[in-house]
Amino acid sequence: MSALQLALFGSPVARSKSPRIHQAFAGQFGLEIDYGLIEASAEAFPGKLANFRSEGGVGCNITLPVKTLAFEQAAHPSQGATLARAANTLWWDEKGECHADNTDGPGLVADLEGSLGLDLAGCRILLLGAGGAAAGVLGALLARKPASVTIANRTLSRASELAQRHQPVGQVNAIAVTELGDYPGADLVLDATSSGHQGTHPTIPYQALASAKLVYSLNYGAAAAPLGKLARLADAQFHDGLGMLVEQAACSFEIWTGRKPATAPVLAQISMESV
Ligand code: ATR
Repeated sequence: MSALQLALFGSPVARSKSPRIHQAFAGQFGLEIDYGLIEASAEAFPGKLANFRSEGGVGCNITLPVKTLAFEQAAHPSQGATLARAANTLWWDEKGECHADNTDGPGLVADLEGSLGLDLAGCRILLLGAGGAAAGVLGALLARKPASVTIANRTLSRASELAQRHQPVGQVNAIAVTELGDYPGADLVLDATSSGHQGTHPTIPYQALASAKLVYSLNYGAAAAPLGKLARLADAQFHDGLGMLVEQAACSFEIWTGRKPATAPVLAQISMESV
């Protein structure tokens, strides 16, 4: 049997951990996969995706900056991808029609509940940021029936729009970061801003970190470090998003292969490599 043709599209993708993660999953089942990295700008994406498919591609992951385009390309987006208006996983059915899902949200939930032991039901969640990363996880968080979700963003209008879009699936309110001083506190603080990529952390009062059971960055590595440092100063438990990365990959792998990989050994392997 020939290797299953998989790939990651986006830009930049050269340093992605996804090939190693998916090869480790495939190894658990004795499956042969060929997981490629395809550098694709928004302009190049449709053509490169069509090439991949015509050369035998069966499924792919999508990262920035083409997650929204990928969602728009798919004939059959899932409810999660539709809510997020973005897809990180594509595949084709026997008729050759393209399906899209967004496994970022389920991946985050699996890491928080499965690996870190947090019960999201009844949890008070503070979500920092209202861009693509926040949109990708909000629906899955609301599905766990938290006590409350507050989105705090520098630009209030973006947070309000995101909250409004999610009203049908759960209660969520929006505030500006300047209102965080009056915020009563959360059990879980999630950083979905891109501030870490600028070498900084989002503005957040010390008290909001100190009173949280868990502070979690959707970033990992250097991009999670500024918030990690701040959370440790506040004596809060902190985790970066490496677990989410492995869990979202596992959800994609299961979509493509019908097999559910064990994530803990792969996370351990990837964490070792990241040190
Ligand atoms: P992504 O797809 O990574 O979420 P994005 O859609 O550009 O990227 O959204 C970036 C998010 O991080 C936004 O919520 C942004 O706030 P604004 O909407 O006000 O721009 C937030 N962000 C970026 N840099 C930030 C910083 N230094 N401090 C706080 N929030 C920041």
